[in-house]
Amino acid sequence: MEANQEKLRAFIGQRPVVVLGCGNGRKLAFLAPPRSKSITLVDLSERLIREAERNLGFKVKAMNADFESMDFSVFDPGTAFVMLGGTLGNLGDIRSFLGKIREVPSSRLVLGLEFLEKNGPDEISPILREYDNETGFGFVFGPLASLGVRRQDGEIQVSFNRSESRVEEHFVFSDARALERLANLAGVEADKVRRMLLSSSLKTTFPEFCAILESGKMELVDSFGKRASRICLVERSPNQ
Ligand SMILES: C[S@@+](CC[C@H](N)C(=O)[O-])C[C@H]1O[C@@H](n2cnc3c(N)ncnc32)[C@H](O)[C@@H]1O
Repeated sequence: MEANQEKLRAFIGQRPVVVLGCGNGRKLAFLAPPRSKSITLVDLSERLIREAERNLGFKVKAMNADFESMDFSVFDPGTAFVMLGGTLGNLGDIRSFLGKIREVPSSRLVLGLEFLEKNGPDEISPILREYDNETGFGFVFGPLASLGVRRQDGEIQVSFNRSESRVEEHFVFSDARALERLANLAGVEADKVRRMLLSSSLKTTFPEFCAILESGKMELVDSFGKRASRICLVERSPNQ
């Protein structure tokens, strides 16, 4: 572990660190309390940012923001972006995220992810069953509920998107009036929101993950940990 921590610390060095989806910060504190003088915590939850600040025990900047829509040009060249605990799986579009990281000159990316062995149906079916429960549905449905949509206005479907290697939860409207109301609210055509992506979660094998990185013109520099759970050090591909 010590050797791996050293690799991680060497990869980050003195770079400014931006922790995307910091959660309570415990993993960061355990894995690699960075030596950087500039650490920025980003999370949708202000409460978690406060917890992370307490757990890290040193001075950090905090941004209560959505990393999917935020402007990455505010970050310094050379920034090391850190996303631990499978947070990458929260992104709807991983390639566009990798594109934003690439636009920050000389930046680096540290990802903590869990991998499957082979992504076959025997591995995917139990995972899909885990997602198919009312507690989880309540959580992912929250944003739609806050827009006045009711659960009985449609159905939540859980599926595995093989080309993107991710579990997806969609809400499919069956109530035409509820659909029309939401479409008007959002200012879009009803067909665009008839089947809405509520959440996505990356479930992939290590080789497929490397292929996703490659298609985003990024490259795996090193990775360590157990096969199922790894820290991946990622950089912009040379010559791209
Ligand atoms: C799976 S948890 C991991 C937390 C932490 N990185 C860890 O390893 O313990 C994902 C975290 O990302 C945050 N998050 C999810 N989507 C986000 C988004 N679009 N923008 C900012 N934070 C987000 C959640 O609030 C949560 O704290």
